[in-house]
This record gives sequence, structure tokens and C-alpha cells, in this order.
Amino acid sequence: MTTATNHRTPASSPNVTPALEVRDVSKNFGAVQALKSVSFNITPGKITGLVGDNGAGKSTMVKVLSGVHAPSSGTLLLDGEPIVFSNPGQARAAKIETVFQTLELVEEFDVAENFYMGQELTRLGPLRIRRTAEMRKEAAVAVGQLGINIPGGVTRKVRTMSGGQRQAVAIARAAFWSSKVLLLDEPTAALGVRETAQVLEVIETLRDQGAAILLISHNMKDVERLCDNVVVLRQGRKSGHLTGEFTGQDCVSYITGAVSDLDTNEAGDGE
Ligand SMILES: Nc1ncnc2c1ncn2[C@@H]1O[C@H](COP(=O)(O)OP(=O)(O)O)[C@@H](O)[C@H]1O
Ligand SMILES: [Mg+2]
Repeated sequence: MTTATNHRTPASSPNVTPALEVRDVSKNFGAVQALKSVSFNITPGKITGLVGDNGAGKSTMVKVLSGVHAPSSGTLLLDGEPIVFSNPGQARAAKIETVFQTLELVEEFDVAENFYMGQELTRLGPLRIRRTAEMRKEAAVAVGQLGINIPGGVTRKVRTMSGGQRQAVAIARAAFWSSKVLLLDEPTAALGVRETAQVLEVIETLRDQGAAILLISHNMKDVERLCDNVVVLRQGRKSGHLTGEFTGQDCVSYITGAVSDLDTNEAGDGE
């Protein structure tokens, strides 16, 4: 029998088409090989973990997937079609949203204004006022659907909010614009226990709504609880890919190099 926390199914489940396929992606910065022929899938309704030591290449991977960096080689496929992003706007247009560790919220804006930031709502005059009401309504619905409780609602300014509330808003904003792929870089770093729990619940809600989620985390308890499968990067290579039943300790073994799939298979990719 499955339990409330045991929702995993094999990552190789044949009837689930990946939302985003990463194929043999490498990224060099001059002589530094940040990513070396890394392959994995991000699947709708699943949370894929991306873990590894500092400098392993996690943020570089997120930046390749979000259009910040072009890969040096390799291919990205969106819904099975090869796709190339020349800038982050193109990735967002393709419904890939990223929550960077820095969040990129505007402190002096309220929640609704942050939701629409950079999305071209620049009409002036009475039209703008009507649009503001619409924006607030839509943002409130989006926040409500994720079960996020922000006392004061969407007209609350970000600068008055706690770290957990900000994280939740940043994730809700990304979810608002993306029905497809969400890339989350350390969404619970620097949060307290209660705030972390709130943010994890938001991520699970998005998963249940069918989003394909990539979750970078250093917290192996969170990874163990949330992720359906976990890609481990070590010195730019995929040293392991955990699926089915695994523990946080299994992840740690791959992260530290105590265990590696690279010995038997250079690409680190199972048959
Ligand atoms: N813009 C860059 N220019 C040069 N080197 C970089 C750049 N970004 C990352 N690197 C290097 O790539 C490697 C992987 O970094 P990063 O992806 O940030 O790792 P992680 O997020 O896993 O800690 C590191 O050696 C880092 O110094
Ligand atoms: Mg990083």
C-alpha cells in the first residue's frame, strides 16, 4: 500500500512523456567544464531532484534550462521537440519558469505587482486602474489555489513579508506563468522549520496540478520526501540517478563519491 508520503513511481514509467528532456548537455566556461554530457528528464506531475556538492554544476544546469546560458553542446527537447533558448525570455515564453535563489522580487511592490512584473502591463490612465483591479483578482486566485496564506492579501508589500512568505510568492508567481516546467534553485534555503513546511506544501500542490518540477536542494530530508527521482551531479557529471525507493543517505553517498555509477558507465546513464 502507498502512504501519504509515498507517491513515487518508477521514473522510467513508459506512459509519461517528459516535459523537458536534457540530452548530453555540456557547458564549458573557458577551461572549466561545469557540465559534462548530462542527461535526464523532467516529467509532468513529478518532482525531479538535482543535488550535488558546491561547484557540482547544479546552478549552471538551471541557467542552461532557463535560457541564461547556451549549452556548449547537447540538446534540450520540450515536449519531444528540440528547442534552443537565446535568452531567458524565450524560456519563459516556452512556459519554463525559474525561481532563482535570489528570488528577484521587488521589495516596494505588492504581491500582485510582483506577479505581473516585466509582463507588459504598461497602459496609463483609467485603463491602468481597471487593469490593477484585474491583476489583484487574478493574483489572489493564484495565491489562494496554492493554499498560500498571506495576511493582508495580494496588496501586501513584499518588504513587510517573512522569508517563507517571499519564497511562496516567488514560487506562486513562477507557477502563475508556467503550466509546464518549474525550476526551483534552493527554495527552502535559509528558511525556518515552519516556513519550510509551507513552501514544501506549495511545491507539492504544484506537483499535484501536473507541473514538471526540478528541485535543487541541500536538504536530503526534503529530497527524500518530495522527489520522485534524483539526479546527482559530481564535478559536472551525472554520477547517479536514484529512482523508486531511495533515502537521503543514498543521495549523500553519491554526492560524496562514496558510490558512483560512473565507474561502470561513463555517461552515468542506465540502460
Ligand atoms: N559564469 C561562470 N564563469 C566561470 N565559471 C563558472 C561560471 N558559473 C559557474 N562556473 C563554474 O562552474 C562550476 C559549477 O558551478 P555551479 O553550477 O555554480 O555549481 P553548483 O550550483 O552546483 O554549486 C564551478 O566550478 C564554478 O566555478
Ligand atoms: Mg548553485
